[in-house]
Amino acid sequence: MVGLTWGDEGKGKVIDLLCSRFDEVVRYNGGANAGHTVWVGEQRFALHLVPTGILRPRATAVIGPGVALDPLVLLDEISELRSRGVRVADNLKISDRAHVVTVYHKLEDALGESQAGGGGRIGTTSRGIGPCYADKMRRYAAVRVCDLLDERRLAQLVGSIVPLKRRQFTALYGTDGGLNAEGVLEELAIAAAELRPHVCDTGAYVRGRIASGAKVLFEGANGVMLDIDHGTYPYVTSSSTGPHGVPGGAGVPAATVRDVVGVTKAYTTRVGEGPLVSELPGEDGDRIRERGREYGTTTGRPRRCGWLDAVALRYAAELVGATELAMMHLDTLSGFEKVGICIAYEIDGHPVDTVLADASLLERAAPVIEYCPGWSEEIRGIRDYQELPAAAQAYVARIESLSGCPVTLIGTGPGRSECICRGRREGLATADQGGEAHA
Ligand code: GDP
Ligand code: IMO
Ligand code: MG
Repeated sequence: MVGLTWGDEGKGKVIDLLCSRFDEVVRYNGGANAGHTVWVGEQRFALHLVPTGILRPRATAVIGPGVALDPLVLLDEISELRSRGVRVADNLKISDRAHVVTVYHKLEDALGESQAGGGGRIGTTSRGIGPCYADKMRRYAAVRVCDLLDERRLAQLVGSIVPLKRRQFTALYGTDGGLNAEGVLEELAIAAAELRPHVCDTGAYVRGRIASGAKVLFEGANGVMLDIDHGTYPYVTSSSTGPHGVPGGAGVPAATVRDVVGVTKAYTTRVGEGPLVSELPGEDGDRIRERGREYGTTTGRPRRCGWLDAVALRYAAELVGATELAMMHLDTLSGFEKVGICIAYEIDGHPVDTVLADASLLERAAPVIEYCPGWSEEIRGIRDYQELPAAAQAYVARIESLSGCPVTLIGTGPGRSECICRGRREGLATADQGGEAHA
């Protein structure tokens, strides 16, 4: 399950629905930059690092080696979940190979962003994601979860990395950030003690579970248009967000990945910098933002809103081999006289029907909009496709034809059961009607 756009497509809700039928839910990319929202009755859960499967008693939640793991955020999240009655015990597994996000990564993220000149800001979530993955690739100044568990090794590593970071920060940003090795070490040591019982070789664990017939759901974070290789670079995140990230980020053979559920909203949003060709800067965008409550789950930032970008959607669906689409927030579009779809870009007078490598060209692109008739009825909570107004059904059909994928899940509200399940997902929400209580 992957987001097909720039994140926040409603993945949390979709995973929660899907994972009622899975035994393992595995995060393979990203870190605490993610914010996946699930409503269970009146309770709202916002998950950043813990896989969404934790909310379903049947599933085990696995944090794979490809995740950038901030142990402090994870500890907070675990204690919040427990305080709300969710069991977090042997149903959470953490890879011994995952890279650790530390205070100096978050500092570097913030310093880099604040001092980036010439329009170079990315608008990151300030969660230290880029610096952590950069250290992982550079190899000489990285800490992994297995290092956390070895007290002497951790002390040695932190003792050598922190002075290096101080020198780097001073040279690049004119401040050493007040970093000291003892402080960093203390924080990490406390986290290590708490997390130790959950740590294992999760790749071996998941492969073993697959061999014994378990059903595994891979939970993508961020979105395909934020993918490090295929997104709107450099306005992307630092991991492989699509299913191509699964083998490496979870430690399973590539052929393991079979069905790919691509998630989109019925419109498009993005937070942070970078091109959003279909952006609606005026009243229509404000209306979507307010009706859809489009404010970041992780940072609270207002999201930029636009008509559905079918160019990016088709590009992403093709790239990941989406076998079906989940389209959330159809309810948010009620009340528009007409609903737009961006079916092409126009750049310097030329039509373009794909996502170009050069983000600066996309920044200059004008959207080519096709309008569909809108619908005035509120459709919140509708669960039967036939009950949708004809115009809403026609809109769904148009997205299917533009994306080349059947839409099997249609969001009609944030709640667990506010969803239409069709085709191969028929009966999914119905089976869980009333909400399966989290343990
Ligand atoms: P994620 O990062 O992809 O999991 O998405 P977020 O949780 O960051 O943002 C999606 C937001 O939309 C959350 O507030 C969800 O509760 C909400 N949401 C999901 N599906 C629907 C839907 O079909 N309709 C409405 N109105 N809200 C939805
Ligand atoms: P979920 O999983 C929305 C965006 C940031 C920024 C860029 C780089 O909730 O969909 P980073 O902190 O990763 O270095 O930021 O990527 N971004 C997201 N936007 N939802 C997310 O996650 C995101 N994760 C990263 O806003 O533009
Ligand atoms: Mg989110």
